Amino acid sequence: MNRAVRPRRTRATAALRGLVAEHRVAPQQLILPVFVREGATAPIPITSMPGVVQHTLDSVRQTATAAAAAGLGGIMLFGLPEHKDATGSAALDPAGILPRAVTAISSEVGDALPVMTDVCLDEFTDHGHCGVLTESGAIDNDRTVEIYAQMAVLHAEAGARVVGPSGMMDGQVAAIRDALETSGHAETVILAYAAKYASAFYGPFREAVDSSLQGDRKTYQQDPANIRESLREIALDEAEGADIIMVKPALGYLDVIRAARETTDLPIAAYNVSGEYAMLEAAAANGWIERERAIAETLTSIRRAGADMILTYWALEYAG
Ligand code: PBG
Repeated sequence: MNRAVRPRRTRATAALRGLVAEHRVAPQQLILPVFVREGATAPIPITSMPGVVQHTLDSVRQTATAAAAAGLGGIMLFGLPEHKDATGSAALDPAGILPRAVTAISSEVGDALPVMTDVCLDEFTDHGHCGVLTESGAIDNDRTVEIYAQMAVLHAEAGARVVGPSGMMDGQVAAIRDALETSGHAETVILAYAAKYASAFYGPFREAVDSSLQGDRKTYQQDPANIRESLREIALDEAEGADIIMVKPALGYLDVIRAARETTDLPIAAYNVSGEYAMLEAAAANGWIERERAIAETLTSIRRAGADMILTYWALEYAG
């Protein structure tokens, strides 16, 4: 043994470990996803996501204020309309739940907290798909993309700084970028869900948004078997005008985050999704893992893989 070489030296105290730590998770790197329910008069707990609720307009405004005070990097809004139909028409209502929530929040937090919106139809359609359907029941990609573009403009008009197209339709980023440019919203940031997999780990989210989905999303979201396909999706979104790209889910896809880091210079977001949250919370509630250590380890590993920012339901708690 070479007695001069002792890697353990820098592990001896907490201060030394902190000194040599290669990755940190800062509040500005965390984005809090929230659910806002039209017509709700009190926050409604989501059973499969202990600690997460469907907000009222008032409670989401308070949460945004707390997020701004905690120095978070953003708040991502998902809207639950009172009325769902085949085309998700409530998504294009200027007085709909998302524009109203954006207006309420941005008047409160100003530029201190980037307000972000989900640009997708699954919360608004009665069949639960992320797009409108053809007569035969297939997803009508190009009509859906036109609706996304109108949604994005509506959100930007209400004051959203960042729009997040999550439907995995071909050409969605280009269409949204074009609509934003031609409607006077050239500064609106597109956070593109570029590499989004058809994942079982979105299970609790379906409860969170009262999803009515029958079947699956495998004709638009990606096959978990693939990684080169993600690099292609990322390159396309970059060429179409994305400002930030996302990999989703995070934990089973750390290799995709790493590969993305090595192929794009755009900032990379990773979504620590509802099922990842629920698994850890359930194990912790049973006393099977140490909750806070497991949360810290989860978020650190996503940063280590190469993500610049993380969407996580723990954002506010962790920043505190
Ligand atoms: C679609 C969307 C989903 C999630 C975020 N945006 C659901 C899906 O694609 O089925 C999942 C987020 C999570 O599970 O935490 N609008």
